[in-house]
Amino acid sequence: MKICIDCDDAAVNLKRVLFDYLKEKGVDITDLDYSASKENSLYPEIGYNLAKQIQLGNFDRGISICGTGLGMAMIANKVEGVFAGTCHDVFSAERLRKSNDAQIITMGERVIGPELAKKIIDAWLGSEFDGGGSTPKVAQMRDLEKESFHPKNQ
Ligand code: RB5
Repeated sequence: MKICIDCDDAAVNLKRVLFDYLKEKGVDITDLDYSASKENSLYPEIGYNLAKQIQLGNFDRGISICGTGLGMAMIANKVEGVFAGTCHDVFSAERLRKSNDAQIITMGERVIGPELAKKIIDAWLGSEFDGGGSTPKVAQMRDLEKESFHPKNQ
C-alpha cells in the first residue's frame, strides 16, 4: 500500500513526526512536500494536490494535515472519486475506513498531540472497508457525487 502525506505551514511538526513514525515501521510513505516547490502555499492547493494524487491512482491512501484538519478534508472532498474525513480519535479513524471507505484521513496539529496522532494513524492503517451494510451507503455517496459533478440537466 502506497501512502502519501502533506501539510500546510500549521502542521509541519506533526507531519514530520508521522512521516518518521511510519517510515520507521516500514510503511511505503512519500512526503509530497508541495510547499517546497511553491513558496507561501495555502492549505487548499496543498490538500488539492494530495487528493489529485489519490484520484490519479499514484497512491492508495493519504494523510493530509493542517491546523484543524478541516480545510484539508473540505478541499479533498472536492476532488471527484476521493473521500476524506477528519479524525481526532481512534474509533472514528477505524470507521473512516470500515464504514466510509475514505482514502484520506485529515488531522489538525492544533487539535491533537503527536502520540494520539500516531495511535489514530495505526488504527486507520489497520482498517479496511467492511462492506456489508455500508456497501449501498458508500455506493449511494458515489452516485450522488457523480450527479453533483456531472448534473444531468446541463
Ligand atoms: C491556517 O492556515 C489554518 O487555517 C489551516 O491550517 C487549517 O486549520 C484550515 O482548515
